[in-house]
Amino acid sequence: VKVLVVGAGGREHALVRALKRSPQRPEVLCTPGNAGIAADAEVVAGEPEAIARERGVDLVVVGPEAPLVDGLADRLAAAGITVFGPSAAAARLEGSKAFSKQVMAGAGVPTAAYRVVSSVEEGLAAVTSYPTVIKADGLAAGKGVVIAQDEAQALEALEAMLVERRFGDTPVVVEEFLDGEELSLLALCDGERAIPMAPAQDYKRIFDGDEGPNTGGMGSYSPVPGFDAARVAEIAASVHQPVVDLLRERGTPFHGVLYAGLMLTADGPKVLEFNVRFGDPETQAVLPRLRSDLLALLLAASEPGGLRDATLEWTDDWAVTLVMASAGYPASSSSGDVIRGLDDVPAGAEVTHAGTARTDGGDIVTAGGRVLNVTALGPDPAAARDAAYAAADAIDFDGRQIRRDIALRAVQRVA
Ligand code: AMP
Ligand code: GLY
Repeated sequence: VKVLVVGAGGREHALVRALKRSPQRPEVLCTPGNAGIAADAEVVAGEPEAIARERGVDLVVVGPEAPLVDGLADRLAAAGITVFGPSAAAARLEGSKAFSKQVMAGAGVPTAAYRVVSSVEEGLAAVTSYPTVIKADGLAAGKGVVIAQDEAQALEALEAMLVERRFGDTPVVVEEFLDGEELSLLALCDGERAIPMAPAQDYKRIFDGDEGPNTGGMGSYSPVPGFDAARVAEIAASVHQPVVDLLRERGTPFHGVLYAGLMLTADGPKVLEFNVRFGDPETQAVLPRLRSDLLALLLAASEPGGLRDATLEWTDDWAVTLVMASAGYPASSSSGDVIRGLDDVPAGAEVTHAGTARTDGGDIVTAGGRVLNVTALGPDPAAARDAAYAAADAIDFDGRQIRRDIALRAVQRVA
């Protein structure tokens, strides 16, 4: 079996590794990949569709959201190539926050109260209390969400989005601020049913104690204390399954990963957002715990109803993933800083590459905001966490940023 993974980050590196663990011993290709992925897969340059055709690929796994929103899965399917990932019509769940809200309303999925607005005046009038949340409609790589503490901040955000058009010509969603802890619950979907994966928690802010600006994610862990299989199944039944049912009824069935970003409020879990792909860095903590054959699952999900007999088996071990970011992240990033110590990482810890490159001289250097991920497993959260930090601290580069409090919450709860 030949598989092509599309993407270039830590998530794609984790997907490559998990696919290679399949007993089907697939040949794994990746485009465009990165310096670390090149050690585990054949990295190929070019259009995914052309590569898939030329190389006789049996399955294309699409990592990031942008190509999905842009219709890559439709183009591959039209060319007769099996693909894991939703059509453009279904990917609108992530591509448009207004669409996502309409689907949630139609499917009866709990979420923050909201209004879609297209002018600053309408936006201010839609605010019922502060803090309030202001979101640009389209894809904005996590940067299109502002939590406004007062009217001045709301005005500034609305003007940036609706007058300066910082995120393009899109409407804006003004929504109720939800308070609580966040949970990432991803489900594999075959157009008919949603099979939940192990729950994870992601750390979005750059600094310890959830301070500083939002990032793509600075660390994660799985599972999450208090969310056993029964609780996870209950959430998937009230959040993921109704969305899969509604999209199927509308003739745009959802195949791929449906990722619910949830806020655990006093009134129960509410959806903050849907993503239509694996989470990054959640995937780096979740997939190393999967005992089932990922390749078989992804192939099954691409068929209507293909997951009917699927079960997901997980190890009881805990996984902790740390992200190392480059100087300046998230406002900017630093490229070309030499990474030292990659060969000194203790056995058992898994290093995945998010933004690295190899120089002509053979050095591995930083090439982006998020640079490396380190994942370690252990019989309890403390053991996994200690192993992850020991491994991460073997690695260094100028300006390295790492949070020191990843998974501390799980350690305290399980102790
Ligand atoms: P989103 O891209 O919609 O997930 O938003 C990014 C982040 O903003 C989320 O992970 C939350 O931390 C925060 N956020 C989004 N919507 C809300 C909300 N309604 N209430 C509180 N925080 C929110
Ligand atoms: N970890 C957040 C995301 O993948 O969107």
